[in-house]
Amino acid sequence: MKFPIFALSNAIAANAAALGARATYAVVGKPEGFASGTTGGGSATCAIPSSVAELKTWLTDSTARCIVLDKEYNFKGTEGTTTETGCRPASNTCPGNGGQDAINKASWCDNGNAGAGATKISVTYDTAGVSGINMGSNKSLIGVGSKGVLRGKGLRIANGAKNIIIQNIHITELNPQYIWGGDAITVDGADLVWVDHVKVSLIGRQMFVAGNGASNRVTLSNNEFDGSTSWSATCDGRHYWAIYLTGSQDLITMKGNYIHHTSGRSPKVGGNSLVHAVNNYWYSNTGHAFDNGAGGMVVAEGNVFQNVATPLLANSGQFFGSPSTSANAVCSSYLGHACQLNAFGSSGALGGTDTGFLTNFAGKSIASAATASSSIASTAGVGKI
Ligand SMILES: *[C@@H]1O[C@H](CO)[C@@H](O)[C@H](O)[C@H]1NC(C)=O
Repeated sequence: MKFPIFALSNAIAANAAALGARATYAVVGKPEGFASGTTGGGSATCAIPSSVAELKTWLTDSTARCIVLDKEYNFKGTEGTTTETGCRPASNTCPGNGGQDAINKASWCDNGNAGAGATKISVTYDTAGVSGINMGSNKSLIGVGSKGVLRGKGLRIANGAKNIIIQNIHITELNPQYIWGGDAITVDGADLVWVDHVKVSLIGRQMFVAGNGASNRVTLSNNEFDGSTSWSATCDGRHYWAIYLTGSQDLITMKGNYIHHTSGRSPKVGGNSLVHAVNNYWYSNTGHAFDNGAGGMVVAEGNVFQNVATPLLANSGQFFGSPSTSANAVCSSYLGHACQLNAFGSSGALGGTDTGFLTNFAGKSIASAATASSSIASTAGVGKI
């Protein structure tokens, strides 16, 4: 079989040469699960922004676009720096040695959240990091190989923006030393959002947050949420604020994601969010994966939990953890397949036997489920498509 593959790659190379080495860029594949049908920029011609300023214009305007990142777009310094009073929260028991201080956003340092014994300190941060770029509707944002990097600023899909694809880029370095330093991807009042093969690392606050507004149909697939950090709110090299799903009317599919070196909120669920977490791989989490608050409804199936201290911290919503082959048969009527067992290695138990909410899956686009596998570590993230 080697010869034909070689011949094929030669043919592709020859083709690229004939086009003057100008590759053809396009979104790869289609979204599975709740956000199936998302088309992003559709048939708009793909183009590479020449600068950070042009990238921002293209992301925010109301034109359908396919935006290609073939290099790093560095927003650090583009909005200056801010120095003001923040705090060293009680959680930072290792100041100067791997802990995370806080910006006083929404009076977080003053309202008790910083904990007893928190002290005021001066904080200096990159201003661009704390607010995401507000995206317009009908956009595809894609990277070339593993070269598409957004450094120092995140993305915000809100206020009715819809039909957005973000694929194969790396979002990194949003003031990771500070709680509230920035969120990588925020969704707050949207519909049809597909985030695929994105890597997120070194973020101050949330790696992905579906906030209070209705975010309707969202699929997070094949992403790498890398919590490794030198500024950990739990003082152990792991990021606590990973994924936060508390929208008021949200359908969230999480499939094929690799969520590693976190220590909490991976994800926190609440609001009125229906979450289908299927075939994800949680690895090396010293705290909790799921924290299911009131209103959160979660089916977790076919996932791997490896070295995860607490797969489910609390369940004051409804949670089905696919506990046994016989219990999992119930999924067939609502999800179209029997739920797959989760797999556990050196981890706590998941639990979760609620089934009353499964009827909410009926009639929706549901992602398929395979047997739990840790090979997701080599398929998730940027540069893997
Ligand atoms: C997005 O595309 C849809 C379908 O083509 C169109 O109806 C809608 O007006 C577009 N939205 C914007 C903001 O351009």
